[in-house]
Amino acid sequence: AEARRKIIAGNWKMNKTVPEALALVRELRGVVSALGDKVELVIAPPFVALHSVAQAIEDSNLKLAAQNCHWEVSGAFTGEVAAPMLKEVGCAYVIVGHSERRQFFGETDETVNKRSRAVLKAGMVPIICVGETLAEREGNQTLEVVERQVKGALAGFSAADVARFVLAYEPVWAIGTGRTATSAQAQEVHVAIRSQLARLYDGAAAGQVRIQYGGSVKPDNAAELLGQPDVDGALVGGASLKAGDFAAIVKAGV
Ligand code: G3P
Repeated sequence: AEARRKIIAGNWKMNKTVPEALALVRELRGVVSALGDKVELVIAPPFVALHSVAQAIEDSNLKLAAQNCHWEVSGAFTGEVAAPMLKEVGCAYVIVGHSERRQFFGETDETVNKRSRAVLKAGMVPIICVGETLAEREGNQTLEVVERQVKGALAGFSAADVARFVLAYEPVWAIGTGRTATSAQAQEVHVAIRSQLARLYDGAAAGQVRIQYGGSVKPDNAAELLGQPDVDGALVGGASLKAGDFAAIVKAGV
């Protein structure tokens, strides 16, 4: 009976130039304007488009997220972007620990934890991604892996902090593959994460945390996934690059 407001986020990954991003936002604003009260809507364009997109979504029901950030607030860290900079351009959320960052850019549970701390300190909310690889699922290690990632990401946070966070369960084998977790597989992992949070923190925090599912969410599977009691939203990759598909997914969550 918890009233968790669903949160649907579009992770644009390394797609869209600034003009392309603005064109997509223009389309999106049209198709989601009537949908965003029951569902919270977030888009995560590449860093260079954040500033322009922030201006383009003013007075809309879309919120802004970045796809990563560094944990230091400033200094000699060539090529990095600090959390306060993202807050200043208008981000409300930062995606942290996406599996692509874990796979290709050396992200670990410890750095996910440090980045999440920086995001919170800058006045934003982290969307923390966890998920097992195909080998781990086939080796029956799914829950062990996901619980280790959750515990590592959340180390040192208070129950009150955690209650506001968004987690995203993204099985690596379902990302960009067209292969989705079944709704039962998603629900099983979401419940496991929520019980873990109840053990680590308390029932109230566990009941408030929103857990998104990510991995080949499309208009035709969104209703089934979002219909699960512990699936509180979606983190959408490919389908978020098409306004019509994103809107259809949002509609499925209303
Ligand atoms: O963060 C979203 C994600 O990794 C899923 O991507 O393209 O499978 O929807 P996609």
